[in-house]
Amino acid sequence: MRVTILTLLLVCCCVPILTHHDQRIISSLVYDPRICVVNEDLIYNYRSSIYNFSISLFRPVAFRSNLNFVFSPLSIWIMLAAIAEGAEPLTQQKLFQLLNLPNDPCIRQLFYQLATTRAFPTNDVNIKSTRVLLINDGTVLNPSWHGLVVKNSLLEVITAPMRYNPVATANEIKRIMSARLPRLDLSGNSVLLDTMDYNGLWTTAFGDAVVERAPFYDLEGKQIGAVDIMKVKRRARMGYVKKLNAKVLELPVGADERYRMLFSVVIGGADLKPIVTGVTKELIFELFAGLRHSYVQIDVAIPRTVITSEVDVRTVLEDLGVHELWTDPSVTRYISNPPAHPSSFVQRSTAVLNNTGLYFEPAEYNHPSGLRTGLEPILGTDFIADRPFLFGLVDSETKSILLAAAFSRPTYPL
Ligand SMILES: *[C@@H]1O[C@H](CO)[C@@H](O)[C@H](O)[C@H]1NC(C)=O
Ligand SMILES: *[C@@H]1O[C@H](CO)[C@@H](O)[C@H](O)[C@H]1NC(C)=O
Repeated sequence: MRVTILTLLLVCCCVPILTHHDQRIISSLVYDPRICVVNEDLIYNYRSSIYNFSISLFRPVAFRSNLNFVFSPLSIWIMLAAIAEGAEPLTQQKLFQLLNLPNDPCIRQLFYQLATTRAFPTNDVNIKSTRVLLINDGTVLNPSWHGLVVKNSLLEVITAPMRYNPVATANEIKRIMSARLPRLDLSGNSVLLDTMDYNGLWTTAFGDAVVERAPFYDLEGKQIGAVDIMKVKRRARMGYVKKLNAKVLELPVGADERYRMLFSVVIGGADLKPIVTGVTKELIFELFAGLRHSYVQIDVAIPRTVITSEVDVRTVLEDLGVHELWTDPSVTRYISNPPAHPSSFVQRSTAVLNNTGLYFEPAEYNHPSGLRTGLEPILGTDFIADRPFLFGLVDSETKSILLAAAFSRPTYPL
């Protein structure tokens, strides 16, 4: 009886502050948020955490790759959260801060559930993500840590004979990553392996007939090669980020528009560095709030390409001050016995930009001249990616950043 009253009290007094849109997302969660004491905007806080961490990674990843890369900040966030859950208290606090994770374990579970339910494959969007802790055979996992990461779908633990059979271990890594990683540091007791592969159908297809070779330019406007450019004329949402002088185009993906791909170029320039260094989470919130549908069709031209990157996440995390995970076995002693002590953390991601889609934009008669786009005039009526551009994939519900990427090397260099 007392328990019932207490539960009722909790449910009554601590209803989270949520918009209708948020309530729809929440109602799709298995784990009932009403059991947590949530007195702030849950989805907003979740997004804020993801953006903050994504941007922290974005800078080192972008600069280390010379602005030609793809990676999944969300996947790294989930993997590192799994390790943080089992780290010794000091390191745990440090990682929670880096990941912007609240100290309340109940809210952390809600964040995890939001994060791990974003990427799943359907007929029209093939998105595959793997998160594995590959650990030496015979290591005994701490059952409460293992239970927590499995229950929250944070990662999968797989064993391999790391200490006595390097060939079998290399084969297992190749199977998990779908790639050979000959230089991987295997000196520890485990490695963190992460992949995200995306190949989706646009909601509105690019015209098949209009993929053609076109010049691609560098920062100074000099032609540095060519790309196969895909073209479509369609209404679309665009946005202007004044602080970064950036133009943003949003194209929906899939039959139910479950994902959106965002593209960004610098207006009147091509240097992406000011965007990479200047972007903040506030600007990302502003961008999403400011996207507007154009009343007229936009001329869209984007290279058809497949971009794949391997990111040495350990090095990137070291840039952010995380050293002890790789150097001090005792910080992972609550994950397993002997300690998990990872020596590597790698991520391989792929993004395919193809012309295939589900529907075709109906042909439109010429607009009466003077019809306004409904957009900031500086955006004009086109989005032509014939010079370095950024792109990223988000889910429509929470706008978590599943993939972030930059393209600056033409397919056919001069
Ligand atoms: C992330 O949040 C912390 C404070 O919570 C702040 O100091 C830091 O600048 C933020 N990082 C980014 C990239 O926004
Ligand atoms: C791109 O689409 C074409 C069909 O238009 C298909 O033949 C090709 O395999 C696709 N490429 C990739 C990388 O998915």
